[in-house]
Amino acid sequence: MNNDYLLQEIKSISDDVQKKILNAKDKSELLDIYNKYIASNGILSQKKNNILKSKSIVDKKTAILKINSFFDEVKKCFEAQKKSIINAELLKENEDISLPAFDLSVKGINPIHLIREKIIDIFFGMGFKIYHSNDIDDEYYNFTLMNIASNHVSRDMENTFYIDQKLLLCTHTSHAQGRAMEETKGKPLKIISPGKCFRKDDDDLTHSHQFMQIEGLMIDKNINLGNLKAILEIFVKKMFGENRKMRLRNSFFPFTEPSIEMDISCDNCCGVGCYKCKNTGYIEVLGAGIVNPKVLEMNGYNSKVYSGLAFGIGIERIAILKYGIDNIRRFYTNDIRFLKDFKG
Ligand code: PHE
Repeated sequence: MNNDYLLQEIKSISDDVQKKILNAKDKSELLDIYNKYIASNGILSQKKNNILKSKSIVDKKTAILKINSFFDEVKKCFEAQKKSIINAELLKENEDISLPAFDLSVKGINPIHLIREKIIDIFFGMGFKIYHSNDIDDEYYNFTLMNIASNHVSRDMENTFYIDQKLLLCTHTSHAQGRAMEETKGKPLKIISPGKCFRKDDDDLTHSHQFMQIEGLMIDKNINLGNLKAILEIFVKKMFGENRKMRLRNSFFPFTEPSIEMDISCDNCCGVGCYKCKNTGYIEVLGAGIVNPKVLEMNGYNSKVYSGLAFGIGIERIAILKYGIDNIRRFYTNDIRFLKDFKG
């Protein structure tokens, strides 16, 4: 017997095994083939050992390389067939012929992204720059630097998602204020900062434990409530149209003094009063105010020289108002029937 003949034999068995693998219809057939031919005590390995023991093989190294390359082909073929059998079985399990076919031509953009881009665009137009911050931060930035007292209820475990003693999922985008001020080191700044917020909140149609905000912060000499009102007015007109009216109300945030809340006239009743605006004619939109001098000082600004304005816009809230969406959860469930209406 010569070398070539032996290699020829193992090659032809390998080819046969590959044919058998490709004809296997299910996992158990495939397993039988594996045990019979491929496993370490299978026919292929036995043949290999016989060949290597045979005295007629002079160049053993070349023979091993050749045999291994036949085996590799068999193993590749086995893996490919295994994958396709598993996929076919999965498909069968999930098959529900009553489901409508997917229409892959439908491409929608989530309205919260559309609104976020639009808000950013409006503030870009007014000279604000984007400041990127993380959604996880130290409680020092989220609370302390924002003048939120150490016994404030928002710090409670029930209201805030803590990761450890210090780190938390940000409860608002205002933590970006401290981060931005730290970097700007006592100089004028004008930024917006989009981010995610997490709170234990009422589970109702307009609240969710996770939502998005865009923070705004502008610090310079002589910033006053008039500047804030002008900026918010431009925002409302550009976002909701020239005819939308806005209203500012007194409010309270520890980081702004004075603090305000902004409402816009109800689109449903044009300010007359209806179910949507709870008969008030107006709908609450955002919180804002003049930066509390204490916050400026804590963050390295001389409050005798500089003053600032800040606002926090809820992105989902704007999207709900702009598109008349009935439930905040629609933004998060990736339902193509909903998304296809928002093509950007
Ligand atoms: N951080 C406030 C909130 O989450 C919003 C806000 C931002 C208010 C900036 C005033 C100034 O409700």
